[in-house]
Amino acid sequence: MQYDRAALEKALQGRRLGYPLSFYPETDSTNERIRILAQEGAPEGTLALAERQTAGRGRRGRAWQAESGDGIWMSLLLRPQIAPAQASVLTLLAGLALTEALAQETGLQPRLKWPNDILLNGKKLVGILTEMELTSEGDAIRFLTIGMGINVHTKAFPAELQEIATSLYLESGRHFDSSRLLLAMLAQFERRYQEFLAAGASFAPFRAEYCANCLHIGKEVRVLGRESYLAQALDITPAGELLVKRRDTGVEEVVFSGEVSIRGE
Ligand code: BTN
Repeated sequence: MQYDRAALEKALQGRRLGYPLSFYPETDSTNERIRILAQEGAPEGTLALAERQTAGRGRRGRAWQAESGDGIWMSLLLRPQIAPAQASVLTLLAGLALTEALAQETGLQPRLKWPNDILLNGKKLVGILTEMELTSEGDAIRFLTIGMGINVHTKAFPAELQEIATSLYLESGRHFDSSRLLLAMLAQFERRYQEFLAAGASFAPFRAEYCANCLHIGKEVRVLGRESYLAQALDITPAGELLVKRRDTGVEEVVFSGEVSIRGE
């Protein structure tokens, strides 16, 4: 067991993000738990935390390996009164908050890979999956689930992931305390979330810090979307999109969504 559940519950009590806590020794997916809790009327800030997931979800329909005690598998319920188009920025904010908290707690240097991965020494340490349910009219957010998977204690990944995934243990040889990391990450996200709402749901105040923690700004990347092309990553826009300069045409383009992979790393 990674967590002292009673101590964790006590530490989270009264927090805006992280309380109430739903803890699962084993569940299918904490994102799925939050979806059901949200439909039952759970308040903003509700946290689902699992020791093990049997059907952890990743982006693009991929599975997320989430074995017992290997990492922090958690999802937060948010009910922000913002336009659906602004919601993707919350994934960026979660990434920024987790990067800051992990750096502070471990002394390591995790870096952001836009839009929602955190890498350590070039390998994936954290994955974030945001899922959203809209009102029936489709013009407002009913709720948002921010799912976060942090590889903490993993000693070995399956062969197909060995080159691309890592854990805090594999990079440092140390076993960091999961409860402490979790509390630090949630506190930082809460701070960033409040700042975001106070700024009228704008990403602009966070842009400089996001870029400073970003791995690929100024570097060559391959943009993977409907088409795939090489480009130089120039900047993150005030709306949280990636600005790139295409190598084939020299034209600057804004990448709204899709995945950026890094070459030459
Ligand atoms: C990705 O990089 O593809 C996103 C991975 C997100 C994994 C986390 S683990 C906790 C939460 N519950 C899930 O089913 N997925 C997210």
